[in-house]
Amino acid sequence: MVGDTSLDSGCILQTDGLSKEFLGFVAVGDVSLRVRRGSIHGLIGPNGAGKTTCFNLLTKFLQPTRGSIHFDGRDITRMQPAEVARLGLVRSFQISAVFPHLTVLENVRVALQRTRGGSFDFWRSDRVLRGFDERAMELLEDVGLIGFTHRPAGELPYGRKRALEIATTLALDPVMMLLDEPTAGMTAEDVDRVVKLIRRVAAGRTVLMVEHNLKVVEGLCDIITVLTRGRVLAEGDYAAVSRNPEVVAAYLGTDPSIAGATTHG
Ligand SMILES: Nc1ncnc2c1ncn2[C@@H]1O[C@H](COP(=O)(O)OP(=O)(O)OP(=O)(O)O)[C@@H](O)[C@H]1O
Ligand SMILES: [Mg+2]
Repeated sequence: MVGDTSLDSGCILQTDGLSKEFLGFVAVGDVSLRVRRGSIHGLIGPNGAGKTTCFNLLTKFLQPTRGSIHFDGRDITRMQPAEVARLGLVRSFQISAVFPHLTVLENVRVALQRTRGGSFDFWRSDRVLRGFDERAMELLEDVGLIGFTHRPAGELPYGRKRALEIATTLALDPVMMLLDEPTAGMTAEDVDRVVKLIRRVAAGRTVLMVEHNLKVVEGLCDIITVLTRGRVLAEGDYAAVSRNPEVVAAYLGTDPSIAGATTHG
């Protein structure tokens, strides 16, 4: 079995022997993660390695076949997704969760309402709604979207949509954010902007991010866990992990572009 399963107080998130099987296929096998409080932790690995499945386990969208998950000292293994989100472990919304016909401001306001109310309440007083607007504008400022406030979200350029997604995540005031491929499909200019944004929003929080662009990983992540075929292959800082022959082999076996640290195709 796994080694030391006692809780490490320096870690905000700890998994022990975390496993997920789909009809006997091991998508995540015996993963024991330690994410230090306040760190930006990268989760990398070739396509199909189990990264997104890991995220789905952490946010409780999937129930593990085996193993445990502790967040902020609590056992969250059997909790519901909403409970985990309330504790402050929040995954950035998928783009599809941005309402395209609502403006940028309205999207953030909806996210704020969702946090406070639990469900929609169309009878809130004007004063309460203006309070949301103030906070929404602060968030838009934080993610550099002030110039887009009244634009329908569906008209935003791709990189700006990811910024909006991060703003709606920040509306939940997360203690720890999970970002699944935050720079996927972006132009170089957008990547730079989102990297700066992640660095800014990571202050005072913990971030666990899946990222295929190794330049981004190198620039942002304090520590990196490498998954292959559902298992942890290596862990360390970028210099150590990128020098690891097993890591290089795992990547070269599936994706020749990785040695050059390019974006995910
Ligand atoms: N619901 C499911 N049912 C069956 N198999 C699944 C399911 N979800 C994921 N898998 C399988 O589990 C493995 C891990 O998938 P996962 O999406 O976690 O990989 P990933 O590391 O996020 O890959 P990528 O880099 O392509 O996003 C894959 O082989 C995938 O086909
Ligand atoms: Mg994935």
